[in-house]
Amino acid sequence: MKVDVLLGLQWGDEGKGKIVDYLAPNYQFISRFQGGPNAGHTLEFDGIKHVLHQIPSGVFRKNITNIIGNGVVLDPVIFKKEVEDLTQYKIDVRQNLLISNRAQLILPTHRLLDAAYEKDKGEEKIGSTLRGIGPAYQDKIARVGLRTGDALRNDFLDKYQKLVAKHRDILNYYQFDHQLEELEKEFFKAIDFLKTFEIVSTEFVINDALISQSPVLAEGAQGSLLDIDFGSYPFVTSSNTVAAGVCSGLGLAPSRVGNVFGIFKAYCTRVGSGPFPTELLDPAGERMRKEGNEFGATTGRPRRCGWLDLPALKYALMINGVSHLCMTKVDVLSVFEEIKVCTHYQLENGETVNRLPNNFENENLTPVYRSFTGWKQPINTFKEVSELPLALLEYIDFLEKESAVPISIISIGPDRTQTILRNEVFA
Ligand code: GDP
Ligand code: IMO
Ligand code: MG
Repeated sequence: MKVDVLLGLQWGDEGKGKIVDYLAPNYQFISRFQGGPNAGHTLEFDGIKHVLHQIPSGVFRKNITNIIGNGVVLDPVIFKKEVEDLTQYKIDVRQNLLISNRAQLILPTHRLLDAAYEKDKGEEKIGSTLRGIGPAYQDKIARVGLRTGDALRNDFLDKYQKLVAKHRDILNYYQFDHQLEELEKEFFKAIDFLKTFEIVSTEFVINDALISQSPVLAEGAQGSLLDIDFGSYPFVTSSNTVAAGVCSGLGLAPSRVGNVFGIFKAYCTRVGSGPFPTELLDPAGERMRKEGNEFGATTGRPRRCGWLDLPALKYALMINGVSHLCMTKVDVLSVFEEIKVCTHYQLENGETVNRLPNNFENENLTPVYRSFTGWKQPINTFKEVSELPLALLEYIDFLEKESAVPISIISIGPDRTQTILRNEVFA
């Protein structure tokens, strides 16, 4: 059996959490393979909205084992809070969660370093979520990081202190004011809590699951345009968010990757700094933000909004080998008279290109749009494709032809039930 992958094709917040939750009954394992608490995955059902940061989005479904894979960076403090918050919904995470012993730990000093680096960048800051993601991955690559498995060893405190001494030197270099004592108390409490969970070699669990025909879904965080290699560098996150990240982030051979579900919004958003060619800095952008409630699920920051960017989407389709598309937040466009899609870019020299250039910046790319007539009616109660307005079906057909990948799932509202299956995704 092969692992299915679900990931974002834009700059994150495409609605991955909602769609993982929708597809979850088809799986026995759901596993995060990269990122950390920079993610905010929203799930809505029975009138309640849940936001998950580190715990995989299968946690509300019965008979699913959730896995935090080796490619993830885990903050024990945020993890403890998240687990405790879920008890009010009678969810006992401990019953169905495995944590990789190879997942890197985010230390309090990683969060402080994130803040120090951002402050130092000034105007050029990345707009990080300040969850310590970059510094934690930096230590992983420098081969000095601490892993969850280290927390079980007798020399953990010693290793921790050695690393933190280095971090303090860097914080002092940046003259970054910090109080570590309280943060450390909280951290070690959370480490004791974490140690009561199953910390195992999850690569064996996942490969064994596939051998015994148990379906596994890999849940991506962030989006392809935030990928460390293929995103809008340096305004990216510090992990491989694309499908290739699943192999190194879970311990799977490339031949083990099956369906790839690519999630994209019917328009575009971005939170944080960096280029965004189709960004709307006008009342239409404001309207999108309002209608789509585009405020970050992790930081609450307003998201930048703009029209769908096809060259960027096609780039993400290519890098990820997407087999099924899922278009979310289609209902948000119901208020627009006219809907635009960027099909090409015009460069400064007048040349028109339909491929996303390396090092693109808003100043050197002008989007060329194709215009569609809006459907101007609410769609969020529809259950079947046949109920969707003609103008929307035309929009979908156009995007499907352009992307050459079936748009199999249409999401028309935040609730689990506001989802239309356009064509079967499981053979
Ligand atoms: P994720 O990070 O990809 O899981 O996405 P987020 O949870 O950060 O952001 C998506 C937001 O849109 C959340 O508030 C969801 O509840 C909401 N959402 C998801 N799908 C839809 C949809 O089809 N329509 C509307 N209106 N909201 C949606
Ligand atoms: P989900 O999984 C949207 C953005 C940040 C910043 C950049 C780097 O909910 O889609 P980092 O904290 O990783 O150093 O921030 O990436 N970013 C996200 N944007 N959704 C996310 O996750 C994001 N995770 C990070 O805003 O621009
Ligand atoms: Mg999010």
